[in-house]
Amino acid sequence: MIIAIDGPAASGKGTIARALAGHHRLPHLDTGLLYRGVGAAALASGTGFDDIPALAALAAGLDLAALDEEALKAGPVGEAASRVAAVPEVRAALLKLQRDFARQPGGAVLDGRDIGTVIAPEAEVKIFVTATPEARAERRFSELLKRGEAVTFDQVLDDIRRRDARDSGRAAAPLVQAPDAITLDNTGLDRDASIARALAIVAERIGRN
Ligand code: DC
Repeated sequence: MIIAIDGPAASGKGTIARALAGHHRLPHLDTGLLYRGVGAAALASGTGFDDIPALAALAAGLDLAALDEEALKAGPVGEAASRVAAVPEVRAALLKLQRDFARQPGGAVLDGRDIGTVIAPEAEVKIFVTATPEARAERRFSELLKRGEAVTFDQVLDDIRRRDARDSGRAAAPLVQAPDAITLDNTGLDRDASIARALAIVAERIGRN
C-alpha cells in the first residue's frame, strides 16, 4: 500500500505522514528533506542557484543516510530548498530514489508536493493536506520560537506566501492536487484531530483500520 501525502509548506503533512506510517507500520520518507539536503549543500558549497549542472550533481550525489533532519529544518534552508526544487534537472536526479522508496514490497508513506501526481500516481491513498496561509504561519512561527530563532510572525507569513507562489507557480512538477486526492483542510483542527481525520480517510479507502 502506498500512501501519498501532499500539501503546501507547514500544512502539517509531515506530522500526518509520520502518524499514518506508525499506525500502518510502513516506512516513511519526508521528500522535502531531499530538496532541503540539496539546498543546504548548495549553500555550503557556494553553488549559485543558476548553476544547473552543479545543482544536478549535488542532487545525484545526495546521501540519504547522512541527512541531518534537525539542521535541514532550520531557517535559510527552506528558501534554498524551494529554489533548487524548481530546477527540473534536480527533480530528475531525485526521482528514482523516491520511486524506489514508494515501490518497496509492503508499501510506504511519502510526503511532499508531487507524490500523488508524479512520484506515485498509482498510490492507493492520496491525501492533500492544506490550511490557510495564516494558520500555517502560526504553526511554523511557534515551532521556530521554540527553537529559539529570532523571527516575527509577519516574516514567517511572508516566507510561507513566497514559497507557496514558487512551489505552485513553477513549471516542473508544481504543487497541484491530484484529481483523486482527498482534501484534508486542517485550519482550526489541532494535531490530534488532524491525525484522526487522516486515519479515517485511509480506513475508508482501504476498508479497514
Ligand atoms: O516540505 P518542505 O517544506 O520540507 O519542502 C521544502 C521544499 O522542497 C519546498 O519549498 C518544496 C520542495 N519540495 C518539492 O518541490 N517536492 C517535494 N516532493 C517535496 C518538497
